[in-house]
Amino acid sequence: MPVVLITGGTGLIGKNLTSHLVAKGYQVIIVSRKSIRDVEKPLVSYSTWNIEEEKIEKNAIAKADYIIHLAGAAVMDKRWTKKYKQEIIDSRIKSTNLLIKALHDIPNHVKAVISASAIGWYGSDHTPLLHKDGFIETDPADENFLGETCKRWEESLHPVIQLNKRLVKFRFGIVLSIEGGALAEFKKPLRFGIAAILGSGKQIISWIHADDLCRMLIYALENEQLSETYNAVAPLPVNNKKLILKLAKLIRGQFYIPVHVPKFVLKLILGERCIEILKSTTVSNEKIKGTGFTFLYPTIDAALKELTNKKNQA
Ligand SMILES: NC(=O)c1ccc[n+]([C@@H]2O[C@H](COP(=O)([O-])OP(=O)(O)OC[C@H]3O[C@@H](n4cnc5c(N)ncnc54)[C@H](OP(=O)(O)O)[C@@H]3O)[C@@H](O)[C@H]2O)c1
Repeated sequence: MPVVLITGGTGLIGKNLTSHLVAKGYQVIIVSRKSIRDVEKPLVSYSTWNIEEEKIEKNAIAKADYIIHLAGAAVMDKRWTKKYKQEIIDSRIKSTNLLIKALHDIPNHVKAVISASAIGWYGSDHTPLLHKDGFIETDPADENFLGETCKRWEESLHPVIQLNKRLVKFRFGIVLSIEGGALAEFKKPLRFGIAAILGSGKQIISWIHADDLCRMLIYALENEQLSETYNAVAPLPVNNKKLILKLAKLIRGQFYIPVHVPKFVLKLILGERCIEILKSTTVSNEKIKGTGFTFLYPTIDAALKELTNKKNQA
C-alpha cells in the first residue's frame, strides 16, 4: 500500500488521520520535531525534522507516495503576542519551504501534497462580498492576522506545482473531535453545569466533524481530479448558541444553566484571539461536494450525537 508522510501527525487531526489511513491499509510516516522511538504501532513509523536548521530525514521523503502537511503552532492555545504571532507564521511557512526544498533536492516519487489551511482566510459575514451559501474559495483573504497568515501559508505551497506534483489545499473549518480542540473547550464549563454561550451567541461557526475531515483528506489523496483549494466544512453551519445548547442538552440533559460570556470578558481572557471566537463566518462547501464527496455527519445534531456518545467518552 502507498506510504503517506504526515507533518504535524502527532496533533489532533494527525492522530485521527493516522488511524483512518492505517484502517485502510496505508503505511504512515509521522514527521515530528521530537524523536518518537518508543511507540510501536503497526504500519506507523516516525521520523524527525528540524525546521530552523532546514533538516529532514532523507529516507522519509524518498519513501513517501503522498505528503499531508498539517504542521503549525496552535493558533488558539496562547495569547497572540508579537513573538507568538511570528511563531504561528514561521511554523507554517518555514516548514513548507523545507518540504519544498526536500522535494527538490531528494529523489522521490511523491505524487501529491495535500495541505491544511484554514477558514481564517475569510473575513466576517458582515461584508457585501458574502454569497448566498457563504464564502467561496475564490474570495479574497481577509486583511487581519489570520487572513494574512493563511494567504502567506497557501502562497508558500505553490512551488509544489512547479515540481510537477499535485497540490490540494483545504481550508479547514472548526474541527469537532472528542480528542480535543474547540469541542473540549466548549465542554469544560459543562462540568459545572454551565452552558457558556460566547458573546451574543449569534456568530456562525463553520464546523466539520474530525472523521469527515480525515475522510476528505484521504479522498483528495485517492482522487487525482482534485487540485487547488477547497473549503473543508460541513454543509450546515450553526450559530454558537445553538451549538452550545445542543451540546449541553446531550451531556447534561435538563441540568444546565445557559450563561452568556460577555465580549469584554472574552477579550480580557483571550486578548486579540477573541476576534476569531466572536466572528461570524459562513463558509460554503459546494466546491468539494461538487466533486462527489459525501459527509457522514452533515448536521450538527448528527456530529454532536456521535461525539458525545457514551462509548466514545469511555
Ligand atoms: N483543529 C482545528 O480546528 C483546525 C482548524 C483550522 C485549521 N487547522 C489547521 O490544521 C493543522 C492541524 O491542526 P491540529 O488541530 O491537528 O493541530 P495540533 O493538534 O496543534 O497539531 C499540530 C502539530 O504541528 C506541530 N507543531 C506545533 N508547533 C509547531 C511549530 N512551532 N513548528 C512546527 N511544527 C509545529 C506539532 O507536531 P510535533 O510536535 O510532533 O512537531 C503538532 O502536533 C494546523 O496547521 C491547524 O492550523 C486546525
